[in-house]
Amino acid sequence: MTALAQLREVPRTAFDPREIRREFPIFANNLGLVFLDSGASAQKPRAVIDGIAEYYRTDYANIHRGVYALSARSTDRFEAARETVRRFLNARDVSEIVFVRGATEGINLVAQSWGATFLGPGDELVISELEHHANIVPWQFLRERLGIKLVIAPIDAAGSLDLAAFEQCLTPRTKLVAITHLANVTGHVVPVQEVVRIAHAHGAKVLLDGCQAVPRLIVDVRALDCDFYVFSGHKCYGPTGVGVLYGKREILNTMPPWQGGGDMIRTVSFAETTFQDPPYRFEAGTPDISGVIGLDMALSFMDSIGRDSIQAHEEALTRYAVAQLAAMPGVKPVGAGHRQLGAVSFEVEGIHPHDLATIFDQHNVAIRAGHHCAQPLMERLGLPATARASFGIYSDEADVDALIRAVRAAQKIFGD
Ligand code: ALA
Repeated sequence: MTALAQLREVPRTAFDPREIRREFPIFANNLGLVFLDSGASAQKPRAVIDGIAEYYRTDYANIHRGVYALSARSTDRFEAARETVRRFLNARDVSEIVFVRGATEGINLVAQSWGATFLGPGDELVISELEHHANIVPWQFLRERLGIKLVIAPIDAAGSLDLAAFEQCLTPRTKLVAITHLANVTGHVVPVQEVVRIAHAHGAKVLLDGCQAVPRLIVDVRALDCDFYVFSGHKCYGPTGVGVLYGKREILNTMPPWQGGGDMIRTVSFAETTFQDPPYRFEAGTPDISGVIGLDMALSFMDSIGRDSIQAHEEALTRYAVAQLAAMPGVKPVGAGHRQLGAVSFEVEGIHPHDLATIFDQHNVAIRAGHHCAQPLMERLGLPATARASFGIYSDEADVDALIRAVRAAQKIFGD
């Protein structure tokens, strides 16, 4: 039985982060590590690490090319992973699942293929103040190239997307709304169901950046009715270098290829080339095959734990962290809106976030400090940087308690 088949046999058990942690070798190899930076990248379970090695040992060959049995087996495993992703997102069809390098590449693909084909001068595209650079810069490229207008939907005083103001950003020229599902800086959960409803009512398509959402929320692209959805494997306990673009089939069918090369073609002559149907049309060259196999392992791992349990765990832990931080003198959690999940940014009076992170490191507490690839949001919040703690399935209240002790230690150093 392969490691993946064994994973699928694992019955759902009650959620115990300490038990789960045993599945992550990084903790045994770094005793005492308090890892609170899963928002940047999650740690990897044994199932993923060993599963990739096992694949290389037993089934590896290039895919979609060989007529020999080993290549066929490798291809089957790669395509089985596509089915796992389809099921995970509840997409209609495997042809809607495009493997990419990560969410960033997924957004660039949509910008360069769909955007460059269907947008023209004067067309409008709405993003929000909450966005990661990956959901800003590709659209700026398009603005320079095509003369489209980039409209920025504001957040309110609490840090939530201001839905009324968002609706006012939409005009008959709005062609696309590209927005995060869960803000990476603040952990604010954006009411994307409403965003999609409003955008569609105005005739605009919707791309959701699910980088922070997929590891924590049950994402159902059919229920959301979004047109595109992107996420990265490495934040979902999978390997780096692999991610997913979901696109509605009828939309992907209208999109031209964005990169040329092997595997995405049907026929090539020097005079003319014809292309495969989606998703292969968008997957030029040998893909990150082992990355895709590892992603399959990671998503299956999450399913074996239970995504509803993961979501409940992250909700409870986030609430605990916000409450503990907010109760400390001189500490202020940064505006996270009405619903917050998986991440909390905070300020400590008189201490720069980089100094905080350095002191925390001396206490074995790993957090991220900086602008979190969201400089416009920092500017909007009036902050040069924040300290951010973010959680995973292996995080627990003891980690938050260690964070609080580290904050006290930093305050003591700066208070002395
Ligand atoms: N986007 C990642 C983060 O939020 C790197 O930390």
